[in-house]
Amino acid sequence: MSGAVTPDGSAATGYGEKEYWEKRYSLQDDKYEWYLTWDILKKWLLPELKVMEQSNNDDDANCEEMKQTELRRRKDLKTLIVGCGNSELSADMYVDGFTNLLSTDYSEVVVEKMKKKYAANPDILFEVMDIRKMLLEDGVVDVIVDKGTLDAVLCGNDSAKNANEMLMECSRMLKKGGLLLIVTYGKPDSRLTYLKKAKYKWTVKEQALGGKSHYMYTCLKQ
Ligand SMILES: C[S@@+](CC[C@H](N)C(=O)[O-])C[C@H]1O[C@@H](n2cnc3c(N)ncnc32)[C@H](O)[C@@H]1O
Repeated sequence: MSGAVTPDGSAATGYGEKEYWEKRYSLQDDKYEWYLTWDILKKWLLPELKVMEQSNNDDDANCEEMKQTELRRRKDLKTLIVGCGNSELSADMYVDGFTNLLSTDYSEVVVEKMKKKYAANPDILFEVMDIRKMLLEDGVVDVIVDKGTLDAVLCGNDSAKNANEMLMECSRMLKKGGLLLIVTYGKPDSRLTYLKKAKYKWTVKEQALGGKSHYMYTCLKQ
């Protein structure tokens, strides 16, 4: 993972343990954004969702109508962020129209801090949930966004088992035609073996984001 460790995450076993994150978030009050900010990420992510960048040309009446249609489409997408941490992704996506949004993390500390931080806008929802055992029903989510969470899961003990539980849960929660978008430092040879399994009932597309230091895997539920 990027940050204070080796690029392949080999020295980062703490990232797979809940205690590590609880301690880190107890000590860290500020935000920490892994890999990419929403402003950069959305260039790749929005086309996957088949939603467009919003035009800034407010003078044009047609343009305003398109903008409203687009906002309605974003609002209709039931979107779930897993392993949200103290990233600004949730608030940035919300402001960009993804208002049907739930952000989750297994760290009670960070979820409490995020609830306090966004107390003025209680519609930006945060809940404590472990990605290996989510409290959502089957087939209810349109879009799941993971930025750095599978990477963290893969750093711990029992990493293959935990990754499998995580991916089974994502598959279970997705509607038919829903998407799991995984933003990661993991190159295809280190991620596709985990992702491409018939039991998840999805197809997987990979793409390098810009300079090839990050990748996005798009899993489309069949
Ligand atoms: C590398 S950080 C990424 C944080 C944030 N998504 C970002 O982009 O800045 C990984 C996050 O995943 C969370 N996490 C790790 N394992 C998890 C699990 N089993 N269930 C839920 N969250 C988990 C950690 O608490 C941490 O917040």
